[in-house]
Parts: sequence; C-alpha cells; structure tokens
Amino acid sequence: VLGYANAMYDFTPDAFATPEQRYAGLCDAARALIAGEPDAVANMANLAALIWQFVPDLNWAGFYRMVEGGLVLGPFIGKPACIRIPLGQGVCGAAAASGETQLVADVHAFPGHIACDAASASELVVPVKSATGKVIAVIDLDSPLSARFGPDDAAGIEALAALISSAI
Ligand code: SME
Repeated sequence: VLGYANAMYDFTPDAFATPEQRYAGLCDAARALIAGEPDAVANMANLAALIWQFVPDLNWAGFYRMVEGGLVLGPFIGKPACIRIPLGQGVCGAAAASGETQLVADVHAFPGHIACDAASASELVVPVKSATGKVIAVIDLDSPLSARFGPDDAAGIEALAALISSAI
C-alpha cells in the first residue's frame, strides 16, 4: 500500500481511515520526494506542500531554520510570516530552545506566542535534529481550529522530522 496516487509528483492522499495511516502515507511520499535530492530549499518547499496536502485543517505549514543561533523563516505554505524568531520566544522558539515538541491547544494561552496569522488557534511545532542531536530547524503547523493537534499528529510529524533531517 503506497498511501498516495503515485504519478510523478502527484501525491494526492488516499482517504485515510486513521491518523497513523495518514502520517505513514505522508512519510512514504516524503521519502520518495527527497530521494537523491541534495538541495535543502527544494526539499523543504516540497515537504511544506506535502504537509499541506496530507494534513487537513491547516492555515500555515512550513519550516524555520536555525541560523547563527536564531530561527529564520524557511519554505512554507500560508500567509507571510514573522521572519526571525529568537530562541526561547514563541512556540517555535520554545521548541528550538528545548529540543522538544510543542503541542499548543490554544495559542492565545501560550506565553509569548507570536501571532503571524490571526486565524491561528492551535499549533504543533516539532524540532528537526541533526545526527548529533542538534536542533537544525523546526516544522511548524498552525490550525484555525482550537486543539486541532493531538499525540497522533505529534508522533507523525516527529517521524517526518527524523526522516528528513539529512535532506534539509
Ligand atoms: N506562532 C509561531 C510563529 C510562527 S507563525 O505561526 C508561522 C510562534 O509563536 O512561534
């Protein structure tokens, strides 16, 4: 089972029964897309598009990269966003500083949350780590629904982060 229609760059997800199947499909498609491609920007751009296609109810999906000790906006789908985020600030900065996934049910209750799109209600941020365990980027998903993300989503995006770490 591929989990997507496999026609060149057509990774239209199947109607997945469970989040586990959805994220397994996303990871399969990601593996196929980045295979043999060393360009980090191209890979992050395609991965943001893939997340957007596979994960429903998002208003923003993409990357912030660790550059000289701070986060800098990378490829994404959504409205234009805050370009630089210092470590420890906002949800992304908290994920990058702690190296831990941030699952935020209500962004308005998160101290220091940086509102890029007023429509965002909940957020999932997963650090991407190098082979030596250093945070090299974060994957940020925003939803207009409150409490959109749960442990299944966190586990799915963490699996994706592990899979793509050497490709971005
Ligand atoms: N809300 C994020 C900032 C990034 S945007 O949502 C795209 C944060 O608090 O880190």
